This record gives sequence, C-alpha cells and structure tokens, in this order.
Amino acid sequence: MNIGIDRISLHTSNYFVDLRTIAEARSVDSDKYYLGIGQEKMGIPPPDEDVVTLAASAAYPLMQDGELENVELLLFATESGIDYSKAAGIYVHGLLEMNSRCRTVELKQACYSATAGLQLAIGFVARNPSKKALVIASDIARYELGSPGEATQGCGAVAMLVTADPRLVAIDSESGFYTEDVMDFWRPNYRSEALVDGKYSTMVYIHTLIESWKQYAELSGRTLADFGRFCYHIPFTKMAEKAHQKLCRKFKVDIDKDTLTALLDESLRYSRIVGNCYAGSTYLGLTSLLDTAEEDLAGKRIGLYSYGSGCVGEFFSGVVQPGYREFLYADQHRILLENRTELTYQQYEDIFNYAVPTDGEEYVFPQYKTGPFRFSGISRHKREYESLVD
Ligand code: HMG
Repeated sequence: MNIGIDRISLHTSNYFVDLRTIAEARSVDSDKYYLGIGQEKMGIPPPDEDVVTLAASAAYPLMQDGELENVELLLFATESGIDYSKAAGIYVHGLLEMNSRCRTVELKQACYSATAGLQLAIGFVARNPSKKALVIASDIARYELGSPGEATQGCGAVAMLVTADPRLVAIDSESGFYTEDVMDFWRPNYRSEALVDGKYSTMVYIHTLIESWKQYAELSGRTLADFGRFCYHIPFTKMAEKAHQKLCRKFKVDIDKDTLTALLDESLRYSRIVGNCYAGSTYLGLTSLLDTAEEDLAGKRIGLYSYGSGCVGEFFSGVVQPGYREFLYADQHRILLENRTELTYQQYEDIFNYAVPTDGEEYVFPQYKTGPFRFSGISRHKREYESLVD
C-alpha cells in the first residue's frame, strides 16, 4: 500500500519586506542578499497573525474541500510555540471545526519536526488505512535586527493531508536519519529571537546531509542519479544549492550549473520570496516544486532532505503520482504570493518590535490583512481567534 501526501496547501503573511529595503537600512550591498544568499523577500506577520492563524489558513482549503473528514491525527510542527502546555493544533482543530475523535499534539525539533510528523502520520495510516492524518508545519523565523541572520527571516505554514493511496506524492519506506547534540542554532525559552552560530550551522547542515544520505543510499540501493528533483530544507536558497553541490562532490558525481538549476530551481521559487519558515521550509519547497514545474513530474522520484538545528536531519524520498496536478492549490498560492503588501523599513521595524501583551488585561488587536482567520485579541492570558469566513 502506498502512503504519502494527498493534498498540500500553504499560507504565508500578506505582508513582506524586500531585502533591498533591509540592505539599504544596514548599508549592505543588496547583491549580498539577492545573489549571495539567494533571497529577495521575507514574509512578515502582522500583529494579528501567529502560528495558529497561519496554520489554520493553510489548512482551510482542505476544510472547504471536505478533506478533513476522517482525520484522526493532527500533528502541529512548530518552534514558535505560543504556550508551554496547550498544543497550538487544538486551536486549529477548533477553528477548522474538526471531529472531536482526533489525537492532537505539537511537535518540536527546530526545522525538522514536520518531517517527524510526516513519518509518524505515515505510521498511523499504515495501521489505520481508511483514516487520515493532518500534518501542519507553521513557524515565524526571527533573528535580531541587524544580525547576520536578519535577512533569513520569513514565515509560513504548510498543511499536508497524509493518506493511503495519496494523490500527490507516495513516500518511500527507506529513510536515512541522524541526530547529534550540537549548538548551531537555538532559542532559549526566555527569548523571542533565535541565537545562531551562522557559519557553523551551515557546516552541520551539510555534515548531517551526508550522514543521512549515506544511510538512505545503503538502505535503498539508489544513487543520486535516481532522482528527478531534490527538495531541501531552505533557510536561504543558496544553502540548498551549496548542499546539493557538496553532496555530489562528496560522492563524486559531476554537476554543472545547468543541471543544478534543473534539479533544484522549481523547489526554491517560493522560498526566495517568502523566506525561511523553519518547520515548513522543506514542504514550502515541495509545494513550490509541484505547483511551478512546467514538466509533468508524474512518476518522478523526489529526494527530500529535512534539517533541524540542534540537530536532526533526514533524507527520504517520494514518487509523484499520476494526475497530481488536479489536486494542487497552485492558483490559490500564486494569487496569495502575487498580492502581498510591501512594508517600508519603518513598518517592518514597528511590526518586529510589537510584542503580545503579557499583563493579563484585555486587548483587541487592530485588523490587518490576514487569511480566513486572525488572532483578534487576548484576555486574561487567553488568546482569542476570529474566523473571517462563515
Ligand atoms: P553573513 O556571514 O553575514 O554572510 O551571513 P556572508 O558574509 O557569508 O555572505 C553570504 C554570501 O554572500 C557569501 O557567499 C558571500 O560571498 C556573498 P559564499 O561565500 O557563502 O558563497 N556575498 C555577496 N555576493 C554577491 N554580491 C555581494 C556579496 N557580499 C557577500 N556584494 C549566514 C550568512 C548564513 C551566516 C547568516 O545569514 C545566518 O546566520 N543565517 C541564519 C542561520 C542559517 O540560516 N543557517 C543555515 C543552516 S542551519 C538551518 O538551516 C536551520 C535553521 O533553519 C533553523 C532550524 O533548524 O530551526 C536556520
């Protein structure tokens, strides 16, 4: 029985800042961002958007299409949690009016947790083939203003329905994974911005890729020539390109610029204008690939590499299913990405410095442009969400 991703839907903020604006404010050549790290824009969430509203908005098209019936497992992957105790997925479960017969939990391991969620969901479906699982990765990437990481912020959520006989991508059973206790990127509970040893993190990302690939190759017998495309975790698009080049070099596979572009570019398109969305980033890449590839990818095997600092990495793969295009939300994604509002530097900094009140009083938040759901206020330390749809 094939098991894998049956539907995939994304949401990001309706606001973005252009990295040329950041470059000007920091007196940096904008080519450093546009060419050096391969990023053009970053999604910035307004005060009434958080990981819950991003996630619920990402999954909303699935609800509209009646796909959430029979979902008995909701896994919410994030490193931007809003509560130490209650799973953010429970708010999403409520907003999407899902069945109460559903296990809902939040998963954390930096950017890796959605992949853990996907693999757990596959195990659940293997045991309950008539049931479905919903995996949502939702994150807001934040680094200090003026820090080297600043240009690699972003935000977004990706919702994936996991079923038997999936209509998009059947996930292969072989997988290579690797854990090592390192401090390349972390965010202590008392901070709202991540700390990172930037250059070191890029080296650990690649080391983990090589270790994960070695296991995957040994278990599957496949070589790098067996893949139609690759989808990497994308903290910034240049990272994915460099990682693939290094992997090829390590295993003595020649790769020129054109081949690299053909294998990776479609998966990088959304990330280049959305930025890092941590747990969702690999799947933002997969959505970008499926939505924007001109070639029909049916029957092609996709290599996926998920990396979460700290660190855990996994190399796995999946085969694109015949007729997959009919089940994408490509038009909705294009409309969302084409209609975002650009922020000035001052607007970006004001939003960045905005902090959710913590004094237990009552607050109603001004309404910005969001998806179908918004974080409308806070009262006695309880978050309040509003649905903007009937
Ligand atoms: P930096 O050190 O300021 O940048 O920040 P740099 O000086 O290394 O420059 C970047 C590139 O731009 C270089 O290219 C420059 O040569 C080039 P490279 O040498 O690497 O090929 N450059 C230019 N190119 C054209 N025209 C110019 C120009 N100037 C310079 N004028 C750094 C880079 C990655 C350190 C920073 O962005 C950072 O700290 N980012 C955050 C950490 C990160 O994203 N790490 C990635 C791996 S870890 C990961 O992916 C996990 C993560 O997603 C978190 C999680 O798991 O939860 C982050």
